[in-house]
Amino acid sequence: MRTKVSVQARRAAKHRTRPHAFQEITRLTHRHPEVDRLFPNLPVHVLGVGKKKTGRFVPTHMRVAVLFSGGPASGGHDVLCGISDTLQNHTLLGVHGGPGGLLKGDIRALRVDGLRGTGGFWALGTDRTKLKTHIDAVRAIIAQHKIDALIIIGGDDSSTNAAHLAQHLKGTQVIVVPKTMDCDLQARPWLTCTFGFDTACRTYAQMVGNLLADTRSTAKYWHFVRLMGRDASHVTLEVALQTNPTLALISEEESWHRRSLSDVVEHITHVMRARVREGNDHGVILVPEGLLERLSDMRALIAALNSVWTRHRDAMMRRSLARRRIFIGRHVDTRNRARFLSLPIRFQELLSLDRDAHGNITLSQIPTEELLIDLVRARIEQDIPGYTLKAERHFYGYEGRCGTPTAFDQRLAYQLGVIAASLVLDGRTGYLAALGGDLRGGGTPYAVPLAPLLEAESREGHEELVVRKRLVEHDDPAFLALLHGRVGRTDTDMQCPGPYQDGKVIIPVSIALNNAGGRL
Ligand code: FBP
Repeated sequence: MRTKVSVQARRAAKHRTRPHAFQEITRLTHRHPEVDRLFPNLPVHVLGVGKKKTGRFVPTHMRVAVLFSGGPASGGHDVLCGISDTLQNHTLLGVHGGPGGLLKGDIRALRVDGLRGTGGFWALGTDRTKLKTHIDAVRAIIAQHKIDALIIIGGDDSSTNAAHLAQHLKGTQVIVVPKTMDCDLQARPWLTCTFGFDTACRTYAQMVGNLLADTRSTAKYWHFVRLMGRDASHVTLEVALQTNPTLALISEEESWHRRSLSDVVEHITHVMRARVREGNDHGVILVPEGLLERLSDMRALIAALNSVWTRHRDAMMRRSLARRRIFIGRHVDTRNRARFLSLPIRFQELLSLDRDAHGNITLSQIPTEELLIDLVRARIEQDIPGYTLKAERHFYGYEGRCGTPTAFDQRLAYQLGVIAASLVLDGRTGYLAALGGDLRGGGTPYAVPLAPLLEAESREGHEELVVRKRLVEHDDPAFLALLHGRVGRTDTDMQCPGPYQDGKVIIPVSIALNNAGGRL
């Protein structure tokens, strides 16, 4: 019996997840002069894996709390498993209900049994409360629960909040695990992909591929598909590279060319008219969720509406949607009033909805695909006498961000959990856990300092230092590949990726292209 136990113990020890130790590899400079003054305690060196511990003294027993922040992303539970496996002999606490739950002190011992490979954030829940305006309350909760380190699994806004906490919570380490299905939290070359992106894209690509096969089979219907991804179009770009749809709009591209809503409507109508005249009266058009905010006219309108919300929040909250429209009409300038009133009433109401905790319009609630169908219909039916547009609208959003994580996401998320816990054991604070290098081969662990990622951005009418979102850039190899594929595209180019749950680790196409400078 004794022999059996010791064999099991030896086996367990062999498979135990070993923490990494880190060493400084590159010093980053701050992107804004104010960062030096406001965040003097935060580190500025990128860390790579080193041979021995170089961080400060770490107590033998630590109490480490972990929380999810922002929208869910597939792989979150694998992060928890990576953290738990690395923090053996320490106490792991789960914060329930996200940052808001931390403020309420909803903190309990966390067990991760059965969580590996499951989608969603349900083990702890999440929310979008901003912690940087509650530093004293967080300090009190942390002292009450004797927490030595806080791991925040979150995106760009959560990273900004974490930078503030790391600066102000003396004696408590703060580490971020980069999370978002939007993939817009990047620090290339050390962090090129967030967990959750691959699962969401493969889920959507499967459905878009199915639509393409349907339109090619039946030769009817135009499908307008809006894809989740709040601001950046990485998701739409990846899905387009996987499926080859009739047309994929990229919000950033529309913004570089300063296009307006009517320019986009004209572009779509042009593509459709050409196909209708060739006898192909069907197709699939991908629309990124963040499109409206990137169009020159709509951007100005949304900024004007946001400013009405900031200045007259109470008055707006007291009014019904219908009365908010009238109130807005009175409080924006003439040009924006004209833009606002030119939209269908339903869209005027939707644009008047309340903002989220970060002051952002809740874009996932605005059916841009429906607006485009309405405007394109009016245009094309006028252009082609007797023509009737048969269009279907789709929004692929919540279906994709809590799916069973792909093998790629499971591995990425688990590794990030191990890196975050290792940073805690190495005595670090103010860092983003990161995995760069060859992601196909498992990747290389890094830690990116939060302070040098802070940049000035206008939020709710004033300048703030924030971790900026990484948008699609005009020279990204993945974007250039999309441009190249748009030329001479026919229906036979369509791809149907099919179900992703086959256990193989496949790197997203856009990430592979960007990491390899355009060569696959
Ligand atoms: P995060 O940046 O918090 O990960 O957001 C992801 C996301 O799914 C966006 O793509 C989407 O616009 C938003 O959350 C929707 O948020 P909500 O869950 O509040 O509707």
